[in-house]
Amino acid sequence: MTTTLVHTGADLRAAYATRPTATRAVVMTMGALHEGHASLIRDARARVGSEGLVVVTDFVNPTQFAQGEDFEAYPRTLDDDVRIADAAGADLVLAPSATEVYGDGGGFRPDSVTVDPGPLGDILEGASRPGHFRGVLTVVAKLLGITAPDVALFGEKDYQQLVLIRRMVADLSMTVDVIGVETVREDDGLAMSSRNRYLSPQERATAAVIPLALAAAAAAGIDGPEAAIAAGVAILQEDPAIELDYLVVTDPALGPAPTAGESRILVAALVGSTRLIDNRPARMGA
Ligand code: PAF
Repeated sequence: MTTTLVHTGADLRAAYATRPTATRAVVMTMGALHEGHASLIRDARARVGSEGLVVVTDFVNPTQFAQGEDFEAYPRTLDDDVRIADAAGADLVLAPSATEVYGDGGGFRPDSVTVDPGPLGDILEGASRPGHFRGVLTVVAKLLGITAPDVALFGEKDYQQLVLIRRMVADLSMTVDVIGVETVREDDGLAMSSRNRYLSPQERATAAVIPLALAAAAAAGIDGPEAAIAAGVAILQEDPAIELDYLVVTDPALGPAPTAGESRILVAALVGSTRLIDNRPARMGA
């Protein structure tokens, strides 16, 4: 094993000091690593080369979970994570405590300075999970500060998160390069996610309908966004085991759907008690 596990920013900086000129890439995770994360780490390695440093952060961020969400139950598998990160080519795994990231209390204090995601943080996932993107953007800003990377890679699976991180980096004049990496899927098309491990075998089979609905929506997009939505929703409503939250068409930056041209289709649904999200690019119009 060549990957080094560190728990503090000070230890990370000490590791950097041995390779001061190396280009640094960071892959931020909440642990529970799977093949989707491994592909981000491999991509990071390919971008910085053998001389570069690839850092994986492994931190279940309490401030992006609302009351009653799965913060306590979220899978914590650090030993496996380090093994997977190592096999995918990471040099360092940073697994900080909540106190290391947030100071005393391990979360937001009433007087904390935090990142306001703006109106894009209130739609879609933000509408169902109030405060979620304030927590995400604040921890991403903190982890960018701690890891000081040249490039940061995020999966397209969390598309709204990716768009908001790009917006934060642009609007707050941060200098890191943000790279979006295509979603890795299981053989039946289900997007890989740490939350898939909550699904029972029957729910897991049901969940495969979600990428099928996205595909049907994308195909119907030739007749415009309304047809796309109708086609996708129809597929999901056929299965009573799926509770649809939203299926929408937007432009690639999450603005209003174009009647013709590049767009994004995003879906969120509950399968049992597990909330799953997915998305894909599509073209509207002929
Ligand atoms: O996508 C995730 O795993 C998390 O939201 C992130 C970006 C690591 C912030 O906690």
